[in-house]
Amino acid sequence: MCGIVGYIGDQDATPIILNGLKKLEYRGYDSAGIAVLQDGKIEVRRDAGKLNKLTAMVEMNPMTGNLGIGHTRWATHGMPTVNNAHPHMGSTGEVVVVHNGIVENYLELKEELLAEGIQFKSETDTETIVHLIELYLGLEADFTAAACKALSRLRGAHGVVTFSTREPDKIVAARIGNAGGVVVGLGDGENYLASDIPAILEYTRRMIFLESEQMVVLTKDEVKLTNFDGSPVKPEINTISWDPVSAEKGEYRHFMQKEIHEQVRSLTDTLAGRVDFDQGKISLAQLNLTAEKAKQIQKIIITACGTAAYAGMVGKFLIEHIARIPVEVDIASEFRYRDPIVDENTVVIAVSQSGETADTLAAMELAKRKGATLWANVNVIGSQAMRISDGFISMQTGPEIGVASTKAFTAPLVDFYMLAILLADLRGTIKEKERRQLVSDLRLVPNLVSKILQSEEGIIQAAREFKFIKSALYLGRGINMPIAYEGALKLKEISYIHAEGYPAGEMKHGPIALVDRDMPVIAIAPKDPWYEKMISQIEQAKARGGSVLVVATEGDEKVAELADHVFWVPETPWLLSPVITVIPLQMFAYHIASLRGLDVDQPRNLAKSVTVE
Ligand code: M6R
Repeated sequence: MCGIVGYIGDQDATPIILNGLKKLEYRGYDSAGIAVLQDGKIEVRRDAGKLNKLTAMVEMNPMTGNLGIGHTRWATHGMPTVNNAHPHMGSTGEVVVVHNGIVENYLELKEELLAEGIQFKSETDTETIVHLIELYLGLEADFTAAACKALSRLRGAHGVVTFSTREPDKIVAARIGNAGGVVVGLGDGENYLASDIPAILEYTRRMIFLESEQMVVLTKDEVKLTNFDGSPVKPEINTISWDPVSAEKGEYRHFMQKEIHEQVRSLTDTLAGRVDFDQGKISLAQLNLTAEKAKQIQKIIITACGTAAYAGMVGKFLIEHIARIPVEVDIASEFRYRDPIVDENTVVIAVSQSGETADTLAAMELAKRKGATLWANVNVIGSQAMRISDGFISMQTGPEIGVASTKAFTAPLVDFYMLAILLADLRGTIKEKERRQLVSDLRLVPNLVSKILQSEEGIIQAAREFKFIKSALYLGRGINMPIAYEGALKLKEISYIHAEGYPAGEMKHGPIALVDRDMPVIAIAPKDPWYEKMISQIEQAKARGGSVLVVATEGDEKVAELADHVFWVPETPWLLSPVITVIPLQMFAYHIASLRGLDVDQPRNLAKSVTVE
């Protein structure tokens, strides 16, 4: 949460930083600010609200300089006001700081600073950092040393970026704890900093990811990476293959809409290099999985948050059905505070688009301490989840910017499908004919997705009709039960309509009491093994006056007769059906939110990467 950008070089830092912040707005949009070193003085502009307010402010009152830092905020400590907006300056005007994360010991530090007579101007935890640096700067002449001393006193998980008029040719940044990623972008006679790759991707593809408790000092010609104790670290330079254009909206109104439509490409890329259609084989090289290791696995636990956890629920189904290994799905924020039963024969798989979700990372650390093998299904290259895992499956989705996750939901479904086949193959528990059939079915996926995307007009019509609903009940069964959860989450997070996902078989145990003409039921009923059960559920809802919208397989006359609305999906092998059934629900949520005039990409109270607890 919170986006950070920094630049040092010969160009004007202001447009580079504002442009970078635009790419990071998905990380937080409560306020935005920029600090530039102009004629030896720190110039700050900041405002509450979205980035366009800051951009207008900078246009009215321009600033220019070759060194600067910027920030978009997702408020944790203190309301989203101007005073609480970053960057924060100290009392001397010599130091400025932007920060992503929470200073867990800020009250203790604040007390110490107040006792020194320092006055605070904001309610943020961040302000303690800048005062602390200034305090040490009073004692030491060296800014880097003062910053290091101050930063090493912070507890919690953060990315911090600072500069000072005392050493006007440097930016200092640090990563503390697991969350709050800091990425260094290497240029030629210039260098960049960001909390996330897309901010600087159009300037460089050569990037260094800071590890916890590492600091970096950037000048325009040099990048010096050290541990907090000052010991040098040899940086690993990663070349990022993402296409910068994929972080742009292009012809679409919103990133979410663009990302829904990108699923043909992302799923094609998901298969590329991993599926051998001739041999009917799967290879997932970065998992480092041998037959011996596959045979040792006694249990798999999938841990994740939000949409990623729903992908994990489908993953459970696929692995249990195809590879016959017991799988549990555990919400990361719960798993991390339990004493889960995990040992060296357990594989824990974390699913995370960002690879920076604080709860997921904490769950991974716990699993590692308990001796499990740790795998990650992760999108952001170089993210912490990718780095701490023993093996990973990289989602081939490219950057996902919309806060509501779409293409980073369907990619893991296919990843789990492939993993299940690979595990079954390596354990010798699948017949060749069945394996070949499962592999061959994968070939259908991009085409099926493309077909559904062509049905958007019908979905817009339904969205027009449903846009004023107050509540909705999403029902699914079997492998499509998690799609009910995911469909409901999509609707609530971007359109602020209350929606519940429910296993359809549970209706009669309570929720059916909710059904009346004001509570539409959205049933996911493709031709899968639970089809008949879903039909009887739809009949029960109809009998109680509910209006029913059904996701159904093309040509299904029974559904056509029963339903008030149908989102038709093409016939799909049932183990792959969640990849297909979720897409009309993504589009439905998108169009409802859009018709309600809401900010689809930046829904209230949310941020893309949840790097705090
Ligand atoms: O980056 P992650 O996949 O770890 O994020 C997990 C959730 O925060 C995320 O999926 C969230 O639920 C999305 N906003 C859903 O659209």
